[in-house]
Amino acid sequence: MQALLAHTLENRLTGSEMTMKTLNTVLLGFGAVGRGFLALLQARHAYLQERYKLRLNLIGVATARRGSVFCSEGLNLAALSAVADRHLSEYPEQPRLIRGLEPLTMLSRPAVDVVIELTPTTYENNAEPAMSHIRTALAAGKHVITANKGPIALAYPDLVAQAEHRGVFLGYEGTVMGGTPALRMARKTLAGCHISEVRGILNGTTNFILTEMERGTSYAEALRTAQARGYAEADPTNDVEGFDAAGKLIILAHVVFGKALRMTEIDRRGITGLTPEAVQAAQAQGERWKLIAQATLQPDGRVSASVRPTRVPLSDPLASVSGGMNAITYQTDLIGNVTLIGAGAGGEATAYALLSDLIELAEWL
Ligand SMILES: NC(=O)c1ccc[n+]([C@@H]2O[C@H](COP(=O)([O-])OP(=O)(O)OC[C@H]3O[C@@H](n4cnc5c(N)ncnc54)[C@H](OP(=O)(O)O)[C@@H]3O)[C@@H](O)[C@H]2O)c1
Repeated sequence: MQALLAHTLENRLTGSEMTMKTLNTVLLGFGAVGRGFLALLQARHAYLQERYKLRLNLIGVATARRGSVFCSEGLNLAALSAVADRHLSEYPEQPRLIRGLEPLTMLSRPAVDVVIELTPTTYENNAEPAMSHIRTALAAGKHVITANKGPIALAYPDLVAQAEHRGVFLGYEGTVMGGTPALRMARKTLAGCHISEVRGILNGTTNFILTEMERGTSYAEALRTAQARGYAEADPTNDVEGFDAAGKLIILAHVVFGKALRMTEIDRRGITGLTPEAVQAAQAQGERWKLIAQATLQPDGRVSASVRPTRVPLSDPLASVSGGMNAITYQTDLIGNVTLIGAGAGGEATAYALLSDLIELAEWL
C-alpha cells in the first residue's frame, strides 16, 4: 500500500512538473472556422497553458485572395483579430514578419509544427488544394489537423498510413458534426464496443429546411429562409441533394468500420422532392421526415449506406432534433443505442473540434 501511495505521489509530482509544450501552428484558410479558431485561441490561451501545459503559438495564416502573414516567432493575436475579415496586408509590421508566402511554402518552413487545413471542401479534382496541403505537410513531418471533409473522405487510409509512417498526428474531428465530438465518441469513448450501425442527421441545412416545412412553409420558401440566415449557400446542391451527408458517411465508414465507401456506392436521395403535404401527412401520423444518413456493417463485412428522406417515429431520438442541429446514433453490442446531439456547423463550434484535436495531439506527444 505504501509503495502504491509513493508511486501515485511520484506520478502527481511528475505531472505537476510537466514541461510546457509549444506547438507552432499555421492556418491554411482563414474563413468562418479559421476566425472562430483565432477567437477560441485568444479566449483559451492561458487555460491551455495552465491545464495542459500547452502553448499554442500561431505563426502563420494563408488565404486565397487576402494574402498571408508568417512570423516564426508568433503573430500578435489581437492585431490579427483586428484585420481578420480584411486583406492581411493590413496586419501591422513586426520584426521578421514575412508577407505573401504561398500555402505550400509556408507549411514547409522548419518552424512549423502543426498545419491546420481549412480551405473549402470539394470532392472534385481530388479534393485539391487541400489534398496537396495535407500530403505535403505530412511528408514534411508536420502534424495535420483539418475540418476539410474532401481529403479525409477520399483518401483516409492513405493519409493515416502516411501520418503513421512519418510518426506525426492527423486530426479530423471537425469533418463530421462540426464541434460535436461524433468521431471521438466512436474512436475513444465507445472503445471496446462493437458498433454495427451508424445512423444520423448529419446536415444542418436540410434539417433546418425540414423543420421550417413542418410549420407549413414550402420547400422553396424554407430554402430562401435558410439562405437568408446563412445556413444554406447560394448553390445549395451539396446540402439539399445529400452530397454533404454522404461525404460525412464515407468518413464515418472509414473511422468506425475501417471500410472504404465510394460516393457512388451510397444510395443517395435529397429533400428537393418533399412536398408540404407529405410533411404534414407524416406529422398527422406521429412521425417526422428527416434526412437520415445510415451505414450498416453487414454480416459479410460489407457496408451498406444510404442518405435519404425517411419518416421517423417521434419515439426515435433523431425525431426531436430540430433546426440546424445534428445527431448521430451508434448501435453497439454492449450498451445498445447511444445518441449524441449537438451543433453540426458554425465557425466557433467547429473551431472547438480543432482545439480538441490539438489537445489530443499534445497528449499523444
Ligand atoms: N463553417 C462550418 O460550419 C464548417 C463546419 C465543419 C467543417 N467545415 C469545413 O472547414 C473548412 C473551412 O470552412 P469555412 O467555413 O471556414 O470556409 P470559408 O469561410 O469559405 O473560408 C475558406 C478559407 O479558405 C481560403 N482559401 C480558399 N482556397 C485557398 C487556397 N488555395 N489556399 C489558401 N487558402 C484558401 C479562403 O480564402 P479567402 O479568405 O481569400 O477567400 C478562406 O479564407 C471547409 O473545408 C469546410 O467544409 C466548416
